[in-house]
Amino acid sequence: MHFLSISTAVVALASLAAGAKNQLKQETAFKDGPTNAKMYIYLPSNKLALAPIIVAIHYCTGTGPAYFSGSKYADLADQKGFIVIYPSSPSTGGCWDVASTTSLTHDKGGDSKTIVNMVAYAVKNYGGDADKVFVTGSSSGAMMTNVLAGAYPNVFKAGSVYSGVPDGCFYVSGAQAGQATPGWNNECANGRSVKTAQAWGDLTRSYYPGYTGSYPKMLIWHGTADSTLAYPNLAETMKQWSNVMNIPFTKNVTNNPQSGYTQLVYGDGTKLVGYSAQGVGHTVPIHESVDLAWFGL
Ligand SMILES: *[C@@H]1O[C@H](CO)[C@@H](O)[C@H](O)[C@H]1NC(C)=O
Repeated sequence: MHFLSISTAVVALASLAAGAKNQLKQETAFKDGPTNAKMYIYLPSNKLALAPIIVAIHYCTGTGPAYFSGSKYADLADQKGFIVIYPSSPSTGGCWDVASTTSLTHDKGGDSKTIVNMVAYAVKNYGGDADKVFVTGSSSGAMMTNVLAGAYPNVFKAGSVYSGVPDGCFYVSGAQAGQATPGWNNECANGRSVKTAQAWGDLTRSYYPGYTGSYPKMLIWHGTADSTLAYPNLAETMKQWSNVMNIPFTKNVTNNPQSGYTQLVYGDGTKLVGYSAQGVGHTVPIHESVDLAWFGL
């Protein structure tokens, strides 16, 4: 069922052409694992000597190259000089492992750790700036964005989440890292995993026990008509980061950044913001320029 709706999303994304000047490169020398996710990297010609890094993560059935073609991050890298990493999932259906305790937990392993190792690789080999690392993704990649923000808040400074679920919401009992098909949590997908803000916050904190540093600033996008990862996941995700960062809801701003979107402002709006897209389904269009402003690029 969910594969059907996600295939529709693939078609929509694939029809956008990337105008990037350079080729996307598969980094075949990257073998750090621990899972077999492939590393693709976009290096703009005018790359900054110390270049910020955006990790852009695909949806189920997607690939790194598909997300490169379906988004404008690489075009913007040509203008601004940052690096983009597009990881490719090793699983059969192209979903990311956001279900195993291994992948959900700091330095335990799984796809999350492989992605963090890609960041370290780009810092070491391409002059990536370890202090300016950002993450974004759609659907399964959005779930992974929340997972990375929760397990590796020491690595990422900011995230932008397109149609995901809260960190830990897709946990499946018994799921192991490296499975051909990562676990799928129907309860969560259908918007029935409802917890208090405290419980969501505790869950995130449990993935990096003892961590006392700051968490990435988060931008959370979701369509009200999402039939793959139901709309209540927006409110649950907002509760989670609101608790983790201890930032209360302030106000809604309607028709921002465009007609039909409501901006949910937390605190002073610099650390946590949601965007509720009225009537939009699972494929919330990527708002690259809003993301870049959020990342400070
Ligand atoms: C803010 O907007 C969200 C999304 O439309 C809505 O669910 C929520 O009730 C609004 N809150 C207030 C206080 O208006």
